[in-house]
Amino acid sequence: MKYFVIMGATGDLAKTKLYPALAETYSYNTIQKSVRFIGAGRKECSQEQYRQLVNESLKDRDWKLDFVQDMDYVQLDLEQVSSVESLINHYNIEEGDELIWYMAIPPQAFEQVIQTLSQIKEQYPHINQKLVFEKPFGSDLASSQKLNALLQKSFQETEIYRVDHYLGKETIQNILALRFGNTMFEPLLNNHYVESISIDVWETRGIDGRAEYFDKSGIIKDILQNHILQTMALMMMEGPIAMESEYIRNAKYNLLRSLRPIQHNDAILGQYTGNDTVKGYIQEEGVKPDSQTETFVALTSYVDNARWEGVPIYISTGKRLSENKAEIRIKFKQSFKYFAHIDEECNPQQNELVIQIQPNEEVYYTVNAKFPGKGMCIQPVKLHFTYDEAFGQRSQGAYTRLIDDILEGDQSLFIRSDEIEESWKYVDPLIQSNNVEKRELILYESGMNPSDIQFS
Ligand code: BG6
Repeated sequence: MKYFVIMGATGDLAKTKLYPALAETYSYNTIQKSVRFIGAGRKECSQEQYRQLVNESLKDRDWKLDFVQDMDYVQLDLEQVSSVESLINHYNIEEGDELIWYMAIPPQAFEQVIQTLSQIKEQYPHINQKLVFEKPFGSDLASSQKLNALLQKSFQETEIYRVDHYLGKETIQNILALRFGNTMFEPLLNNHYVESISIDVWETRGIDGRAEYFDKSGIIKDILQNHILQTMALMMMEGPIAMESEYIRNAKYNLLRSLRPIQHNDAILGQYTGNDTVKGYIQEEGVKPDSQTETFVALTSYVDNARWEGVPIYISTGKRLSENKAEIRIKFKQSFKYFAHIDEECNPQQNELVIQIQPNEEVYYTVNAKFPGKGMCIQPVKLHFTYDEAFGQRSQGAYTRLIDDILEGDQSLFIRSDEIEESWKYVDPLIQSNNVEKRELILYESGMNPSDIQFS
């Protein structure tokens, strides 16, 4: 039997991501009968209140809801070994069973929780525990190393799942298919043909009432250290030996290791101010009035290896920007210099390969084609693929896939200890407290386009 315990069961992440993902998984009928989902947390909450809360979080969706009746709520303190023992006894969890802990809890609690579960492992060595950690795993290089070291005393890497939900997105996984399942892109993805790469994750939303988390974190820890570096690793890594978890993670790790170190003043940092319709960052409830937390970051990265030497990677991400967009844009070197008559109407452009993750799940490649008629006038057109058109459906949610993989024991879409440490190592110069004190923050008005922010 498998027991999937959601710690932080009444919290935001559970409500906005995990319950919808469970409902979606049930509606695809991929959940085995032998899995029991249990919500847990320190708060007191009756079964009825809990099921109502789960139903409430699903009310705008038309997925199967009957599974909610099979879910229990258990009051549990993961800092107390006795509290976990009670859960084990209550459900008669026994030798050979799997006990999965999904930590949708504040990261400050991770250390103590690991200690408790290590003791449980000693006491019940034949219960197979799996520990799933939501991001952020650590808050800098030193703290992530400390957590990893603590985990490694009692657990194998195969028992540890570090979540980056971007990896659960179809469009992110499709990077592997696109690169290694086609002849036409991979030979071009190197410094002979690529002029630059941009990776942008822009959001129009603010911090959605998450001041307590975000004010300590900022966009560097919230998006750059994880979603962007993982996306970059998949897009730029060498081909793995095989499409298997360990090989893919080795390849990503090698790429992250090849990132050219940055200095604390290499990034442009910003913080949003209010306008007629929305509050500025420091007016958000729970944010310190003199907060120096960045809500925007832009920087240029380089990968120092033979394939990518010299190719700039322009990164930008932030809250309260002009549009919602998450995309990778690969700009190829100019190849149309032999075409004559290049004027305003005849406007060839450098080829671009664009992988859009949001708002549209699509991939397009711009090529120059001859404009109909006399002469040889060329113009850019798009070769285009969307999930909707190609497969007649939008892809499933990222968390749906991740929950499935945790149950199956497939770690391909989870981050290994060495990868997470390399990612922290990269951003560390930007987040060390003595550097944070020295840094400059550009104030930008909510709704601004990042290109205006950078040059203002
Ligand atoms: C989360 C960040 O990891 O990703 C949020 O904490 C961000 O700040 C979110 O808004 C973006 O992910 P998605 O899938 O909602 O676009």
